[in-house]
Amino acid sequence: MGYAGKTVWIIGASDGIGAALVRALAREGTRLILSARNEAALRTLASTCGDARVLPLDLSVAGSLAHAVSTIAPGTLDAIICTAALYEPGRVEDLDPEITARLVAVNLLGSFDVARLAPPLLRDGGQLVLFGSVAGYFGLPGGQPYSATKAAVNNLAETLRIELAPRVDVRLVCPGFVSTRLTAKNDFSMPAVITPDQAAKAVMRGLQRRSFEVHFPKRFTWAVKCLRALPYAQSLRLTARLVKTDDR
Ligand SMILES: NC(=O)c1ccc[n+]([C@@H]2O[C@H](COP(=O)([O-])OP(=O)(O)OC[C@H]3O[C@@H](n4cnc5c(N)ncnc54)[C@H](OP(=O)(O)O)[C@@H]3O)[C@@H](O)[C@H]2O)c1
Repeated sequence: MGYAGKTVWIIGASDGIGAALVRALAREGTRLILSARNEAALRTLASTCGDARVLPLDLSVAGSLAHAVSTIAPGTLDAIICTAALYEPGRVEDLDPEITARLVAVNLLGSFDVARLAPPLLRDGGQLVLFGSVAGYFGLPGGQPYSATKAAVNNLAETLRIELAPRVDVRLVCPGFVSTRLTAKNDFSMPAVITPDQAAKAVMRGLQRRSFEVHFPKRFTWAVKCLRALPYAQSLRLTARLVKTDDR
């Protein structure tokens, strides 16, 4: 579907790919509802895109999403796009339990809450868009617990695609590396990295097609899909090469 004149709610709109999507959709003439925790950042963004509504929420706080949902009339949205997520790279043995719990709360439980509470807001045929990741295709060293939460979101979207059909058009977005504050935490050179504006363009192009999964850039995502398809004896030999020698 084209987005001109449509109403779209973006959760995770204050920064990164979400903010780039807001700018791209505003240029198309989309009516926008912007959510994330940082209200000041949302207001600054809203001031640059017409009559966007700011609806702050925190996916990790009980009742916050439900309250936001209660302020939107059922059946009035054309799409809900949830990009909200947290990321902390590191080895599993070094995980901080509190950070792990927060990450699972936002990335995984937050996605379940969006999937449970938000669909009634969509008109018939509206889109529910979840952001998984290429990181969820295969467990790479140094990427937990983020990678596990994204594998779960990929899996959740597959289930929802069937459970909510035909009323809701569920889509899964799996980006490769995008240069945002999230990946600024990486201490390695990211292959095939793209900008948030390039990512937003790829998302909009993909969502206007019919495929369930929108993944990009293809030169990177197909390589990881191939890795996933290999027998473990080969794929694990390849991912072992990603471990820096001083990490062993
Ligand atoms: N960047 C990449 O390379 C990459 C690759 C694959 C997949 N992805 C996925 O793409 C999506 C967007 O990533 P990004 O790189 O754009 O990240 P980002 O720049 O860090 O933006 C994340 C957004 O989520 C919001 N958010 C975080 N915690 C929240 C919470 N508790 N409640 C509500 N909103 C919250 C943030 O806003 P506040 O801080 O204001 O709450 C921000 O608007 C994520 O789902 C990520 O997993 C990214």
